[in-house]
Amino acid sequence: MSKKFDLSALLAERGGEGYELHARHLNPQLPRMLRTIGFDKVYESAEGAYFRDADGNDYLDMLAGFGVMGLGRHHPVVRKALHDVLDAELADLTRFDCPPLPGLLAEKLLAYSPHLDRVFFSNSGTEAVETALKFARYATGRPRVLYCSHAFHGLTTGSLSVNGESCFRDGFDPLLPDTAIGLGDLAALERELGRGDVAALIVEPIQGKGVHESPPGFLRAAQELLHKHKALLIADEVQTGLGRTGAFYAHQHEDGVEPDLVCVAKALSGGYVPVGATLGKDWIFKKVYSAMDRVLVHSASFGANAQAMAAGLAVLSALEDEEVVANARTTGELLKTRLTGLVDRYEMLREVRGRGLMIGIEFGRPSSLGLRSRWAMLQAARKGLFAQMVVVPLLQRHRILTQVSGDRLEVIKLIPPLIIGEREVDRFVAAFTAVMDEAHSGGGLIWDFGRTLVKQAVGNR
Ligand SMILES: Cc1ncc(COP(=O)(O)O)c(C=O)c1O
Repeated sequence: MSKKFDLSALLAERGGEGYELHARHLNPQLPRMLRTIGFDKVYESAEGAYFRDADGNDYLDMLAGFGVMGLGRHHPVVRKALHDVLDAELADLTRFDCPPLPGLLAEKLLAYSPHLDRVFFSNSGTEAVETALKFARYATGRPRVLYCSHAFHGLTTGSLSVNGESCFRDGFDPLLPDTAIGLGDLAALERELGRGDVAALIVEPIQGKGVHESPPGFLRAAQELLHKHKALLIADEVQTGLGRTGAFYAHQHEDGVEPDLVCVAKALSGGYVPVGATLGKDWIFKKVYSAMDRVLVHSASFGANAQAMAAGLAVLSALEDEEVVANARTTGELLKTRLTGLVDRYEMLREVRGRGLMIGIEFGRPSSLGLRSRWAMLQAARKGLFAQMVVVPLLQRHRILTQVSGDRLEVIKLIPPLIIGEREVDRFVAAFTAVMDEAHSGGGLIWDFGRTLVKQAVGNR
């Protein structure tokens, strides 16, 4: 065999070993978990909102790679930009020049939030958050950041310090001296601000875990309180940004909300290249970068690389040309309305919430006696098993990929690519209805699987 590297030949020879290699060399719990719930598929290709397996079956993607595939997979405009940037053979990452692509992307991105002036580019959502936390501390000279219960901002140590779930934090102490308040709890915010050591409040306008929206008026009122105490508002739009909720940023649903720092990542590169961006006010950046000898005080080796920047520019251009944000709004409304229409029909369907194409479907305790004992059996083993019991047949029988929205939550989250339309809404609603019909019959394969999940959960204790 030639010593020259040939990716196609390598995949042709060893492409079938993915699960085995993961089990041997990577996180061993991933293949184990996938096998347990029957998610151990081999997908061969993808386009738009669909994957395909080796037998040519199509799968509808309602997860978008945890939100990175905002435009769906292999969007032609983003692909072409990436081919073009490679073919251009740029002198990228010299680190001692000012190439045009980061400036152009910053200019374009800032146009969506005219009250912000500057951008720091990094390589992921958690890095975008780390940047905001550091900048807020430095600019205010204060140590403490407030965050909301159940918040998710990434899993590096700084971001973990503002994570609102113990399942992520436990065992990684000591973390930073940050403090949780309830989402919407202005009294708690004011109390904490009164201590005079708060740099900022970081908040997801719609929380990813559980799909909880901040109450109407909260962001605006929080901003006023924060500014009164000379502290900053950080909006984490890593998941909600770039059109996901039917506005370019979710905080823009509320008038007058102008966060001091905004974190963006995920969909910015169309899912191809890791990227993060922290947008902020001029005075904050000028404080952090206050002198020439501080020029690298916050920097990243791969930050603002040409591939990420080219992909970002292509994504923003496609978002505009194809009116993707408006599509997220109208298709999201259609999907939410259709699903809300099922709430009265199924006693275990409690609520449908969210905005645009970020939708949470919450399940709850049934009222009829027969179903109540089944529900109790699942809850006794572990909370969240009913939602899992719905997610599994959605994939196995209806070839639709979704996820349970967080640890021990009876909530399914839908964050499909923003390009889906009525066809995908019809397919999802029909499949969901079939699964809910079976779940409410109290029998069938779905409850057999429920019992398997119970055994598994009890065995794991
Ligand atoms: C709101 C929010 N912030 C930050 C992150 C972390 O992003 P990443 O996984 O790119 O580090 C996520 C990831 O899901 C997120 O949803």
